[in-house]
Amino acid sequence: MILRLQKYMAECGVASRRKSEELILDGKVFVNGKAVMELGMKIDDEKDVVEFEGKRVVKNKKYIYIILNKPEGCITTVKDQFGRKTVLDYIKNINSRVYPIGRLDYDTSGLLILTNDGEITYTLTHPKHNIPKTYIAEVDKIPSGGDILKFNKGLVIDGYKTAPAKLYIIEKYEKGAKLKIIIHEGRNRQVRKMCKKIGCNVLKLKRISIGKIEIGKLKKGEYRFLSDKEINYLKGL
Ligand code: URA
Repeated sequence: MILRLQKYMAECGVASRRKSEELILDGKVFVNGKAVMELGMKIDDEKDVVEFEGKRVVKNKKYIYIILNKPEGCITTVKDQFGRKTVLDYIKNINSRVYPIGRLDYDTSGLLILTNDGEITYTLTHPKHNIPKTYIAEVDKIPSGGDILKFNKGLVIDGYKTAPAKLYIIEKYEKGAKLKIIIHEGRNRQVRKMCKKIGCNVLKLKRISIGKIEIGKLKKGEYRFLSDKEINYLKGL
């Protein structure tokens, strides 16, 4: 729900709306890490992170954390203007509105986390947290030692240099290879572009882990709720 910041604070029991306005004007309220100094700001109570006195301002609600093995052929948004299948089409019997954290391409499969917890979304998508994401890629060329070194140093794609990444050859074929790739950012089509930069076209791409959260035995299109241990791990990042 989109609502005014002071209304949200009041609903969460921080203070009355008028008092909340004062707190905002005093620069004591932070939204997504930035102090808000003026009134009139609206927030999305499912996504934005509001903080006061160093603590997250939250409604007393239950959060949901799901991992989905996203199949190829669906998009990572909640709605598609062209009527294509979305990742939410695979999630059944959930009363709350959940949304995906980050994105996988239409033609990429694998681990996607969905939640209604804006704080974890913020943690997992902010580059400063440097969380490793592991992919298995099938490519049409066997990378050389030099290619691997380039990956390790970071590559320039779309005019920026990626953080150092890892590339391991898992299997060699006559005309290609299966690779394990670990990156720390989540830029648009990053793995595909990095592979292209070393002369490899990605034929198949699957994400198998985000930090310590692993896809495990989930089949394509299947999902499960995260365990308490996994949730605590994410919250501790
Ligand atoms: N990198 C890509 O190229 N595609 C994805 O879907 C994820 C990472």
